[in-house]
Amino acid sequence: MKIVRAKDYNDMSRKAANIISAQVIMKPNCVLGLATGSTPIGTYAQLVEWYEKGDLDFSEVTTVNLDEYKGLPRDNDQSYYYFMNNNLFSKVNINLKRTFLPDGMEPDSEKACSDYDKVIASVGGVDLQLLGLGHNGHIGFNEPGTAFEAETHCVNLTESTVKANQRFFASIDDVPKQAYTMGIKTIMQAKKILVVVSGEDKAAIIKEAFFGPITPQVQASVLQLHNDVTIVADEAALSLVK
Ligand code: GLP
Repeated sequence: MKIVRAKDYNDMSRKAANIISAQVIMKPNCVLGLATGSTPIGTYAQLVEWYEKGDLDFSEVTTVNLDEYKGLPRDNDQSYYYFMNNNLFSKVNINLKRTFLPDGMEPDSEKACSDYDKVIASVGGVDLQLLGLGHNGHIGFNEPGTAFEAETHCVNLTESTVKANQRFFASIDDVPKQAYTMGIKTIMQAKKILVVVSGEDKAAIIKEAFFGPITPQVQASVLQLHNDVTIVADEAALSLVK
């Protein structure tokens, strides 16, 4: 596990974007595993800037996202499809036919999840997976206690996750209570993993996840077992780590 210390959020975003661009330059037809949440927004903005300057070409890139809320249509501004389109897809020359997210509007959870596992297999697996870190250590929407063997599955979001996401919705009742997420097994099969973490409110969970015991109670702790993980975190997030 490699930890890259960034000064602040902007520096974290630039450093993370550098790693993603290196991947795209080295393998133009790579498969990027992408994440949502507020943390990677700056990373995507940096990638867009480099694309606009002519330094990056996404024309052959395939993307698979970690997760999607169940029941939100793509045009809902809180769906993860909308987020990805808004922050990246519509701003670079990516082929939209090669951008994949779980189908939040498929009511049959088993079908939605097995279809998505087939998509991931059909693109040949993930070269570089970008991850954010939830306050309870979740990655994607893999909540504490989920078996590390899980592939894509339907999740009942914990109360703390629903509360954390409330800021994006008009009221707590509007926050979806379920989501489809790639499982830990799928995430661990990515060749490389890049975790972005920012802010003092993540300091305790960084310490627990990456320097504590490996346990399903802290889903991100499993990343200690992956052989190519880079964590790019700012000073505030690393304040409890020497
Ligand atoms: C959501 C997403 C995760 C993300 C997490 C942290 O739960 N499903 O993929 O990592 O939020 O979000 P933030 O970066 O806003 O703290």
